[in-house]
Amino acid sequence: MSQSSAPLPPLPLISRQASALKGRIRVPGDKSMSHRSLMFGAVAIGETVIRGLLEAEDVINTAKAMTALGASAARGADGVWRVQGVGVSGLQSPAAPLDFGNSGTGVRLAMGLMATTPLTATCVGDASLSRRPMGRVTGPLAQFGARFETAEGNRLPITLHGAREPVPITYRLPVASAQVKSAVLLAGLNTPGRTTVIEPTSTRDHTERMLKGFGARIAVEQKDDGRHIAIEGQHELTAQTLDIPGDPSSAAFPMVAALITAGSDIVIENIMLNPTRTGLIQTLIEMGGDIVIENRRLAGGEEVGDLHVRASQLSGIAVPAARAPSMIDEYPILAVAASFARGVTRMEGLEELRVKESDRLAAVEAGLAANGVATRSGRDWLEVDGGGAAGGGTVTTHMDHRIAMSFLVMGLAAARETRVDDSRFIATSFPDFTGLMNAMGAKISA
Ligand code: S3P
Repeated sequence: MSQSSAPLPPLPLISRQASALKGRIRVPGDKSMSHRSLMFGAVAIGETVIRGLLEAEDVINTAKAMTALGASAARGADGVWRVQGVGVSGLQSPAAPLDFGNSGTGVRLAMGLMATTPLTATCVGDASLSRRPMGRVTGPLAQFGARFETAEGNRLPITLHGAREPVPITYRLPVASAQVKSAVLLAGLNTPGRTTVIEPTSTRDHTERMLKGFGARIAVEQKDDGRHIAIEGQHELTAQTLDIPGDPSSAAFPMVAALITAGSDIVIENIMLNPTRTGLIQTLIEMGGDIVIENRRLAGGEEVGDLHVRASQLSGIAVPAARAPSMIDEYPILAVAASFARGVTRMEGLEELRVKESDRLAAVEAGLAANGVATRSGRDWLEVDGGGAAGGGTVTTHMDHRIAMSFLVMGLAAARETRVDDSRFIATSFPDFTGLMNAMGAKISA
C-alpha cells in the first residue's frame, strides 16, 4: 500500500472449514522476476516487452519508480507491459520521492540501480517497509561512492546521491540475501571495471540469469568460499521479450490448502521451478505430501512445470537451516502445514524471518497460539506441534501479506473458523487470492 494513497480501513476476513478443493488454476507471475524485468528493461537500450507481469502493488510501485526515473513502463490494452529503456547511465533524478509501498525488493534493488548514476532520489515506503533494515544495502553501495541520508537506524526515508565517479567493489555477503546481492550487481552495471559479489550461501539467482539474458557481461564461478558473481560495468544491455511464469511463493498457498483439506485434488499450472526457489516443494514431499510435477519444460530461461497436488497425511520432519534461502518466504505457510502433520516439525536457520514485512517468526507463533497450536522457538528456530489446529482465533497480520494468506489457508482445515484482522496487504503480491481459492471450493469471506 503506498504511503500517499488514502489510508483504507482494515479488511478482516474469515475462513471456514471447506470440503475438497478441486480445479486447475494459475497463480500470478513471479514477483522477483517481475521487479527485475521492469528494472533491467529500464536501463536496457530499446523496448522490453513483458508478458505475465505480476500486477500487484509491490510491482506496480516499481513500474512507477522506473517511469519517474525517466524510463517509461506501461501496460498495453493487451495486458502486455512495455518498458522504454534509457541505457545503463541514463536514469534521471525523479521530481518527487519514489514510494515503494510495502516492498523490500523494490526499494533495495532500485537503490542499487541508482547508486552509480549522479542523480538524487528520496525513497519512501509504508510503515512496515520503514521499519526494515536498509544498512545492508547502503553499506556496500557507499563503497561505490554513493551517499545516503537516512532516518534513524539506516531506515527509510532515505535520500540517495548516486556516485559521480563510481569505483568497483568486491563484496562478500554478510547475510544470505538475494536483495543485497542484486543491489551490488546492479550498482556494478554503471561502474567501470569489474564488480564482484561473493555469496557463501546460494540465494535466488534471477538477477544473474536475467542480466545474462539482457546481454550483461556477467560470470558465475563456484569456488571454495562460495559463488563468485562478477559483472563488467558500463556495457549496454539489450531490451528483451520476457514471459514470466507463475510464482512458486504464491503457489505455496493453494498447494498447502490442497494438502490439508480432505479429498482435494488440484493442478497449479505453469509454476517457475528454479532450484533456488523450490525448498518448500521438497520439504512438503519429504513430509509425505502427494505433489507430482507434470509437464516439466523450459520457458524464458527457467524451468517450469504444473504442480498436481492431492490431500495427504503429512508427517513432521526437521527442515535443515541450509534449505532456508530456497524457501525463505514460505515458512509461514509451512508452519500451517506442520500444524496438520503427525508429530513435530522443526525449522532452523530462520534469523532472516525477523526482518521481513513483519517479524514473521513472532507473527506465526502468535497466530498458531491463537488457533490452539503449540510451538516452541528461539532466535532462529521454530518447532510446531502437529495433530491439527483447533482454529477459532483472530490473527494479527502486521501489514504482512504472507501471514494473512497462511492463516486463511489454515481455516479451510481447522476445526473452527480462523480470522485475520486485515487482508489488505494480500494485494501486494496476490490480488485475487480470495477469488481463486473460493473458485476451488474454499470458504473465505468478509
Ligand atoms: C527477494 C529476496 C528475498 C525474499 C523476497 C524477494 C528477491 O529477500 O524474501 O521476498 O526478489 O530478491 P532477501 O534478499 O532479503 O532474503
